[in-house]
Amino acid sequence: MEKLDIKILSHDIQGHPTHELALSVLEGLSENPKKLPSRLFYDDKGSSLFKKIMQLEEYYPTKCEAEILKANGGKIAKHMKGKKFNLIELGCGDGAKTITILNSLREETKSFDYVPLDISQAAIEYLYQNLQKEYDQKIPFKIYGLVAEYFQGLKWLSENASDQNMVLFLGSNIGNFSRPMALRFLRHLWHSLNPNDVVLIGFDLKKDLDILYDAYNDKKGVTKEFNFNVLDRINKTLNGNFDRKNYQHQGLYNVQTGAMESYLISQCEHEVYIKDLDKSFSFKPWEPLHMEYSYKYLESDIVDYATSTGFEVIENYKDNKGYFVDSLWRVIK
Ligand code: AVI
Repeated sequence: MEKLDIKILSHDIQGHPTHELALSVLEGLSENPKKLPSRLFYDDKGSSLFKKIMQLEEYYPTKCEAEILKANGGKIAKHMKGKKFNLIELGCGDGAKTITILNSLREETKSFDYVPLDISQAAIEYLYQNLQKEYDQKIPFKIYGLVAEYFQGLKWLSENASDQNMVLFLGSNIGNFSRPMALRFLRHLWHSLNPNDVVLIGFDLKKDLDILYDAYNDKKGVTKEFNFNVLDRINKTLNGNFDRKNYQHQGLYNVQTGAMESYLISQCEHEVYIKDLDKSFSFKPWEPLHMEYSYKYLESDIVDYATSTGFEVIENYKDNKGYFVDSLWRVIK
């Protein structure tokens, strides 16, 4: 069996207590209101919980996007017709959503190297096993796995991008960025790419609030577990003493900003001591700890994001219910 060619750019992955992790926890818990960065969700356990979330009945984005890619994979792939290119996937996860587009690209294009990037090494290895199963142990394109955070990945891309590139940023991963962060990220992406390169980005659209509420407060409590896993991770890697019993999880929609926001809400007055920071943090009763933003969009927001950062929208592909968009952009330089 062939071995996966994998490059590790991020040192914040295997659960090691790193300087960077400690700093972001110190910073977030010292702020008022308290917050933790959402990338802390994705250690190996968190990535496997996210896989479970994607299979939940209530979590519609994955199903909508699978429908979009199945219906439009061929049309999307035609934009790379006859070309040899790099296919870079930012935040690849287990690749379930990617296999459809990989197959369309194989049919329509000359050849490509696939570069899946994720902050979880386990996710990339799992993706590789899935591809081996899909292609009967003989994957018909080259794969270079990159374990990295997005900005490290973009730096790698700017140094290694070939003549033509297609970037996939699916699953509404962009929704976890605030507008300034998203614009910064997209501008950075634009810088790393060549004229006429294309990007396909998943955006979750604004919709009925009950649908959003159910998707982020699932009945089985997997999303709750996903949030609590961040506390476990801090306990493990930084010797903290967060006690799950002291918190309630809640996903709430912010009507002003248009984002689902995830919180762990303190149930009582208590202190959390984190030994590796040699610091205690006091929580008041009902004090919120902000965990994640999941922004929702109008189609006009998508055009605004593209044109403000140097891209042109080629086409927006929607699912039948009109819940989700995969937007295909071209780099203008
Ligand atoms: C990865 N990201 C796009 C997911 C989202 O919908 O914001 C993460 C997630 N959080 C709770 N459920 C899913």
